[in-house]
Amino acid sequence: MSNQIIRPARTISGSLEVPGDKSISHRYAMLASLAEGTSEITRFSAAADCRSTLDCFSQLGVKIDIQADRIRITGLGLEGLRRPRNTLDAGNSGTTMRMLAGILAGQEFRSTLDGDTSLRSRPMRRVMEPLTQMGARIHAREGGFAPLKIDGTRLSPIDYALPVPSAQVKSAVLLAGLFADGVTSVTEPVRTRDHTELALAEFGAHLDHEGRTIRIHGRPRLKGRSLAVPGDLSSAVFFLAAAMVLPESNLVIHNVGLNPTRSAVLDVLGSMGAPVSLVAIRSEHGELIGDVSIRHEPLKGGSIEGDTIAQLIDELPAIAVLGPYTEQGIEIRNAAELRVKESDRIAVLVENLRRMGAQVEELPDGLRVAGRSAGRLHGAEIEPHGDHRMAMAFAVAALGAEGETVIRDAECAGVSYPEFFSTLERLVER
Ligand code: S3P
Repeated sequence: MSNQIIRPARTISGSLEVPGDKSISHRYAMLASLAEGTSEITRFSAAADCRSTLDCFSQLGVKIDIQADRIRITGLGLEGLRRPRNTLDAGNSGTTMRMLAGILAGQEFRSTLDGDTSLRSRPMRRVMEPLTQMGARIHAREGGFAPLKIDGTRLSPIDYALPVPSAQVKSAVLLAGLFADGVTSVTEPVRTRDHTELALAEFGAHLDHEGRTIRIHGRPRLKGRSLAVPGDLSSAVFFLAAAMVLPESNLVIHNVGLNPTRSAVLDVLGSMGAPVSLVAIRSEHGELIGDVSIRHEPLKGGSIEGDTIAQLIDELPAIAVLGPYTEQGIEIRNAAELRVKESDRIAVLVENLRRMGAQVEELPDGLRVAGRSAGRLHGAEIEPHGDHRMAMAFAVAALGAEGETVIRDAECAGVSYPEFFSTLERLVER
């Protein structure tokens, strides 16, 4: 386990690309595996999470060639997956476990899905319930935790109203709907990221939308495709946040995914006074993509709550650590879901912000971080609890602090962004 030292920096500037979007990479890999023919996916995410998805599909009999960020998948068609010999290991990846559960529910064989200690403590009932209603039998550990033993079957369609806003659960039901006889529908309480819907349409599935309801027609023939993955906005956000921390910063991030169900973070940063601009916006495979530029301006801060939370849930750690760099501080509410991510992100943010000397109040569904007048952050030893977004968020916070910060076990950043620390070092000036 290696620690990472972050020394304070003066400014950050230049241009960069971030690796391919993690959410979209998972989806393209899964659908390419279920399609007929070959798919070529470029700028596939280097994240350990996406590697977990590829490993699971290899075990299910899919042929996958990986050449750096270009992968070629020879799909087996909807009926072609094979019973895995061993337990399928989703590693740290909730997306792999929940979405794959939807696919395995529709297979005529038994499979077991497991993950690391963090994933074994994350709620799985939310996928077990709809998939059981569709006819699968799923056995979990007491309390609804992995490992999951899934006895798949020929599924029946359902109309499912999601009790929690979750793109992973929505996606699990839509993927299971591929294997059902008839039309399966999912209704969301709040709109969540729609990458699954867009990717399904690209691969040839038939979907209808009506308000917050999505319907999928079962048993389509999916066709292999050549696709390019946009850059991951959730990774890009750490650099945007660094530019907000360090005076005179100026950054351009090229070819970033700007899907409107993911880009609420840009509006929030904008409303706090960050001059964000978007250029060269275009659509690729249904996904918006463009260049994001930002230059430093002192941030006002503010409060984030309500329906928008579901659309920037992964960016909240980067926003929270900006609190001490804002004029009025930052308040986050209605974000209890943060407690069941790769770590209890509310508790881990509070613990580590306090280690750096910030004034923080922990709330059941969020936190309040005092602004600049509460004093400058100081370097500290940061414990990310194995959570990639915590390691990266505190690296950003550390850039503007007084003295050195040590991020313990910093290699956990590789769960979404293996090159994060070297890219950050390249761009900062001291
Ligand atoms: C994801 C959906 C979100 C997000 C996660 C990735 C996805 O989780 O936090 O990092 O790819 O669908 P939920 O759907 O559980 O909110």
